[in-house]
Amino acid sequence: MWWEQAVIYQVYVRSFQDTDGDGVGDLPGVTAHLDHIASLGAKAVWLSPIYPSPNADFGYDVSDFTDVEPVFGTLADLDALVARAHQLGLKVVLDFVPCHTSTEHAWFREHPEYYVWADAPANNWRAAFGGSSWGRDEQSGRYYLHSFFPEQADLNWRNPEVREQMTGAMRFWLDRGIDGFRLDALDRLMKDPDLRDDPPATHRPELPGDAADLELDHIHSRNAPDLGSALIEIRAAVGDALLVGEVYLPIAEAVPYLESLDVVFNFEELFAVGDPDRLRDAIEAGLRTGGQGWVLSNHDFSRLVTRAGVPNARAVTLLLLSLPGPVFLFQGDELGIGDTRMKGPEQDRNHRDPFRTPMLWDDNEPHAGFSTRDPWLTPSDPVPPAVAQQRDDPASVLSLTRNAIALRERLGAEQGRVLSSAPGTLAVERGGHVIAVNLSGSPAPSPAPLASGQIVLEARPGDGADPSVIPPHGGWVAKLSG
Ligand code: GLC
Repeated sequence: MWWEQAVIYQVYVRSFQDTDGDGVGDLPGVTAHLDHIASLGAKAVWLSPIYPSPNADFGYDVSDFTDVEPVFGTLADLDALVARAHQLGLKVVLDFVPCHTSTEHAWFREHPEYYVWADAPANNWRAAFGGSSWGRDEQSGRYYLHSFFPEQADLNWRNPEVREQMTGAMRFWLDRGIDGFRLDALDRLMKDPDLRDDPPATHRPELPGDAADLELDHIHSRNAPDLGSALIEIRAAVGDALLVGEVYLPIAEAVPYLESLDVVFNFEELFAVGDPDRLRDAIEAGLRTGGQGWVLSNHDFSRLVTRAGVPNARAVTLLLLSLPGPVFLFQGDELGIGDTRMKGPEQDRNHRDPFRTPMLWDDNEPHAGFSTRDPWLTPSDPVPPAVAQQRDDPASVLSLTRNAIALRERLGAEQGRVLSSAPGTLAVERGGHVIAVNLSGSPAPSPAPLASGQIVLEARPGDGADPSVIPPHGGWVAKLSG
């Protein structure tokens, strides 16, 4: 299948390219830069939600599942984007938000039976961004379930009509040429039908996917045992389109999701990149399980550069781009963008905005070419050079990213294995190559006997002159002889 070893490039449409001068990115802006994505060697573009939305959660509060947010453009703009992408050999993956709708979606009034209601808060469940999961509807005086913001009312996937509506919406996009979906917040799709309380936490810390109360084991408010039945219907509706699941479980526990999905994100890896031991465990778990999608960054968490630490970011980039299975690259990862701080009133608006700063296209243009006027979001910290300035610099993060993606062809599809290596280092052998990185501050011995001619790519050009050593904060990919 096309996605099996693909690099999938995530576009946060608001922050990619503004073409109509309103300071907000749009679909024609994505189309205009698809050649950049193709030139990286990515095989697909994943668009963050493009649907009409009151923007309580920037598109993740959907008010119509079969249209385009006017600020982003029109259905015709999307058709043009898909046509251009396909011309360039890129697939198009949409973010689809099955778990909830905006409380401003017409269904919320016209079809209250599509949602989950109670006369009073029915249990102790906590919403991802804090507070109770039960919101009071002022009009009816009743309470509706919301796993995220109060503006995002959870759908009741035990209602067959909900399933019909949502799978119908997915087919609508497939008919327009869409090649797959990233399914948002899937672990919240169905909850305990008896709405039992989540018990006090005893067994293990959760993956820190959200700010939900870590004093509870979220066993009833997520991952209901019959959730797989909904996924089977989704799979039946979409045929062999790519289905990627956002599931906050250790990768080994996400296996049941892979009965219907192609890929689940490996969040253990995302949260571990700053700690070599945890990262080794996460990579080993992924290689053992299969079906993992490695994530460099996304719109919800600190950027790779910030999580890995500036000195190690290049080495971690090389490592993650060399692993088997799909790899998800968030716009700006290829430039080495880290978290930024926001200016003035923007500071308090959304705790995740520092990871969503506008793309940097050309430092010789106002706002680095993102927009002709003030962008919706203005970073205040220094940012790396833009695409135009990095493109022809062999020492740039952009060149490293492009070269590491090109190397994936040579590494092939073998899952590979983690080699034993010195503390603070990580080494994986696959496809006749060794990928070795050193996240410690001191030189470390090579995990395999190598000669200098065997090194095919270095995290920092010039670092790997001596392949018996992995340089501090560096690393390389070397071809094994024989
Ligand atoms: C997912 C999205 C996140 C959003 C949430 C609710 O976790 O990645 O941005 O806030 O779902 O839809």
